[in-house]
Amino acid sequence: MSDYHVPVMLHEAVEYLNIKKGGIYLDGTLGGGGHSEEILRRLDGTGRLYGIDRDKDALSYASARLKAYNNFIPIHGNFRDIDILLPNDVMLSGAVIDLGVSSHQLDTPERGFSYHEEAPLDMRMDRSGGITAEEWLNTASKDEIANTIYKYSDERWAKRIAEKIVEIRQESPLKTTTDLVRAVDMAIPKAVRRNIQGHPAKRTFQAVRIKINEELDMLPKAIENIVDRLQIGGRLCIITFHSIEDRLVKRTINYLRNPCSCPSNAPICTCGKKPKIKTVFSGVKTPSQGELAQNPRSSSAKLRAVERI
Ligand SMILES: C[S@@+](CC[C@H](N)C(=O)[O-])C[C@H]1O[C@@H](n2cnc3c(N)ncnc32)[C@H](O)[C@@H]1O
Repeated sequence: MSDYHVPVMLHEAVEYLNIKKGGIYLDGTLGGGGHSEEILRRLDGTGRLYGIDRDKDALSYASARLKAYNNFIPIHGNFRDIDILLPNDVMLSGAVIDLGVSSHQLDTPERGFSYHEEAPLDMRMDRSGGITAEEWLNTASKDEIANTIYKYSDERWAKRIAEKIVEIRQESPLKTTTDLVRAVDMAIPKAVRRNIQGHPAKRTFQAVRIKINEELDMLPKAIENIVDRLQIGGRLCIITFHSIEDRLVKRTINYLRNPCSCPSNAPICTCGKKPKIKTVFSGVKTPSQGELAQNPRSSSAKLRAVERI
């Protein structure tokens, strides 16, 4: 098994893709290539798999891992841009997106994603561009920081955390993950911190990471772009890892299932917006007990699957 990243809900996600030999598939979040390898195995030398990742480290790792498959095509980029990343005439038999960061990203201290190790505040998945967490935390207004932390993590201490960040940076700019952990520690009273499940800085780090990588705001349009590239009967499997992400995916799926904007009492639809998908099963699937025991990082995973109609 890869020590880069243990794929979450591997068999369920690939099973629901219903892989057909000769089909054209997309892994929009290649990571260590776990889901990709299983798709390629099932394609058995036929068809094609495009693997997109915005992190060049992931692309080199997965490309080396999958070098035996000459029907694998790695692409550097953001899956929200599939319209420009995939050739115009490609219609997909299926796609998977396994959202968030990989274990490799989390466990590589210098990437700045982890509150466990002191490291520069980077947090970019794609280090070829964009602003770092350090740049944003030292320049954004107090209100913007507070609103962002609250919006992307539901952290109830967001306002105080933002105040402490601004207080610290007035002395000297925040430089490392330890500086951000210190702001959280200063903001949340000790008695409250003791009762928080997990690390007190977990929510703040999640929110800053989401902001830096623009992970959520683009998601509804990105999902629609992928759905528009599916052949009729083609499937999209989406794995989420926190409630805000999952809520957004659920809302997007509901919209694409029923985009009609006519008043509910209208006798016939006049808006002309037609459903693009149906769900493959209702609600979500979650990891098995066995997977939870083997890989605690899978604990918050939720899988949804839809089919193009
Ligand atoms: C959870 S990991 C995927 C793990 C992969 N399924 C595996 O089995 O190894 C998420 C990966 O997706 C990438 N990623 C996240 N959001 C992305 C986006 N919008 N576009 C492209 N890649 C993205 C991250 O850089 C990371 O490598």
